[in-house]
Amino acid sequence: MQEPKRYLITSALPYANGPLHIGHIAGAYLPADIYVRYLRRMGKDVVFICGSDEHGAAITIQAKKEQTTPEAIINKYHAIIGKAFQDLGISFDIYHRTSSPIHHETSQAFFVQLYEKGVFEERESEQYYDEAYSQFLADRYIMGTCPVCANPQAYGDQCEKCGTSLSPTDLINPVSTLSMQAPVKRKTKHWYLPLNNFQTWLEQWIIAGEGRTEDWKKNVLGQCASWLKEGLHPRAITRDLDWGVKVPLPGAEGKVLYVWLDAPIGYISATKQWAMDHGKDWKPYWQDADSKLVHFIGKDNIVFHCLIFPCILKSHGEYILPTNVPANEFMNLEGDKMSTSRNWSVQVHTYLEEFPGKEDVLRYVLCANMPETKDSEFTWKDFQARNNNELVAIFGNYANRVMVLTQKFAAGRVPAFDKALDSDKLVADYRAQIDQLYAVYQQSILAYRFRDALMAFMDIVRLGNKLLTDFEPWKLIKTDEPKTLGILRICLESLADIAVLCEPFMPFSAQRLLGYFGADAAFTGAIGEQKLVEGANLGEPFYLFEKIEDAVIQTKLDALEAVRLSRNQVAEQSKPVVVLTPVKPEITYDDFAKLDLRNGVILAAEAVKGADKLLKLTVDLGFEQRTIVSGIALHFAPQDIVGKKVVVLANLAPRKMRGVESNGMILMAEQADGSLQFVAAEGDGAPGDSIS
Ligand code: 2FM
Ligand code: ZN
Repeated sequence: MQEPKRYLITSALPYANGPLHIGHIAGAYLPADIYVRYLRRMGKDVVFICGSDEHGAAITIQAKKEQTTPEAIINKYHAIIGKAFQDLGISFDIYHRTSSPIHHETSQAFFVQLYEKGVFEERESEQYYDEAYSQFLADRYIMGTCPVCANPQAYGDQCEKCGTSLSPTDLINPVSTLSMQAPVKRKTKHWYLPLNNFQTWLEQWIIAGEGRTEDWKKNVLGQCASWLKEGLHPRAITRDLDWGVKVPLPGAEGKVLYVWLDAPIGYISATKQWAMDHGKDWKPYWQDADSKLVHFIGKDNIVFHCLIFPCILKSHGEYILPTNVPANEFMNLEGDKMSTSRNWSVQVHTYLEEFPGKEDVLRYVLCANMPETKDSEFTWKDFQARNNNELVAIFGNYANRVMVLTQKFAAGRVPAFDKALDSDKLVADYRAQIDQLYAVYQQSILAYRFRDALMAFMDIVRLGNKLLTDFEPWKLIKTDEPKTLGILRICLESLADIAVLCEPFMPFSAQRLLGYFGADAAFTGAIGEQKLVEGANLGEPFYLFEKIEDAVIQTKLDALEAVRLSRNQVAEQSKPVVVLTPVKPEITYDDFAKLDLRNGVILAAEAVKGADKLLKLTVDLGFEQRTIVSGIALHFAPQDIVGKKVVVLANLAPRKMRGVESNGMILMAEQADGSLQFVAAEGDGAPGDSIS
């Protein structure tokens, strides 16, 4: 692709059902902001789009939890989230809302266009319905036992314990979370996107890279490849729900567009709103081949943005496809998965209240630990160390030394260059290294490797510090004033470069540095070129960063420890209670008699590729050997369980998991602390013996 004429950059629309935490920022917002700020500095035509996703069951569930209306929920969290982004310097050109009329019109028109082109399949299926509440149940409104790991509190779309994606009908003993009754199945009609028709095209475009102009990240390609390998199926793009964008067809009352057709079209409607607000045309950004579209997301949205949304755009026919989807993995907190509902997170708005003026510290630490290729970790000790040893000791220290020396030896004005220094070897080396590092900085940002870019930036700062150490202006001033001032001039020019280079990562510090140089600084030249005007007045010296004391960090660690403790206490208190979860709805003897339980012995066990929780077992049932996939990999090593006696539910319908067909289920007992034990008949029973 030639140099794009314009850039449309999106970050995943967060659900307006709760506050943002720093994991969200490190995943989809900070990388996009760095990229966009860099492009803007390079003079590119770029629009940065985001907004609240205000639809879906997530919102109605939160409303129920807070005993209020969906409108009240979205208004509350749209404000909190929008402010948190703004205060952290995430520089969207628009932070829009999917509840806006323009979004409803845009997504409905998109749906109609695809409908009229005959893209969708209409299908009737049986879905769970809550008779007490007279409504169909969104996947999240149904809970039951996970067929993979036996977690009794799995949701209809996912088991949060073993991570398996589920559909509600996979759940064993499903219960509606509205009435707490078992739901019934009812027929309902929905519109399906036949992803299977796009399989070959997606394989060519994503895996073979045909028609793509950029390399995609390995973690992104890996997830796409595993979905494509499983084979794509038609997916319903409507839901029975009373909150969302209504399906604009007769006879579709009570149905709304599913998130796949709603949220990403939110990017388009937001662009339209931005264009209206700024007297621009939105269309070239989405429809001209010389535009570049990049979606920044977390890994949970890869399938959605790499497979489903491109099929939607392609089906429409008038839209460009994303040039890249540089998804990040997840960031954990102190060794555990970040989660607001489990009270294990650092919320952005809380951080900003507790650490005023330290927006850039958070941005720096999140970028330095960005989960670009694999899950990463935020720890408070690392936060402190990076602040104290890197920002204070290297960046802030260099800036302050240059400012203080300039005030002392050059009366706070930009001194003259010393021509003689042009032939100095140390200066020549310094300049050559700056050029190299600047190239790494640029290439890394354009390749979505923001950690590398930040490292190159810090190395540029280190070079400045080295220049001071090499020339020691505080000593040199006694013997050679022009040379001292010449060195300070080089340092001031480097500090001006640093102000520009740090802007994508630390925009607040960039502002302060630019303020130091004042209105006389030109700042038009490229990095390494002269930026300052001789004799111009400079500001007063200051420190960019301040040390963070142990006590502050200890308070944060104590707060997390308290959460851990209270979690353990809850687990402890619930230990003597024999039944941890409510007894499932009553069944008859006939129901029970349907279960064919058999003695078995594990003959072989191996890990399942791409699924860290699953083991593929070969089980001897006496009359035959079976392959059974079991979600016990986090509890047992394959080699330790060969020869184990087990009880097998032998007549469970076959089910494919990660491409492996599982024929049956191993019974496991779960203790209050979550540990698992095998269930087996005592004595000399043989494989195949019946259990009743
Ligand atoms: O998964 C989510 O958080 C949804 N709100 C969708 C985000 S991606 C989208 F905006 F396309
Ligand atoms: Zn599970």
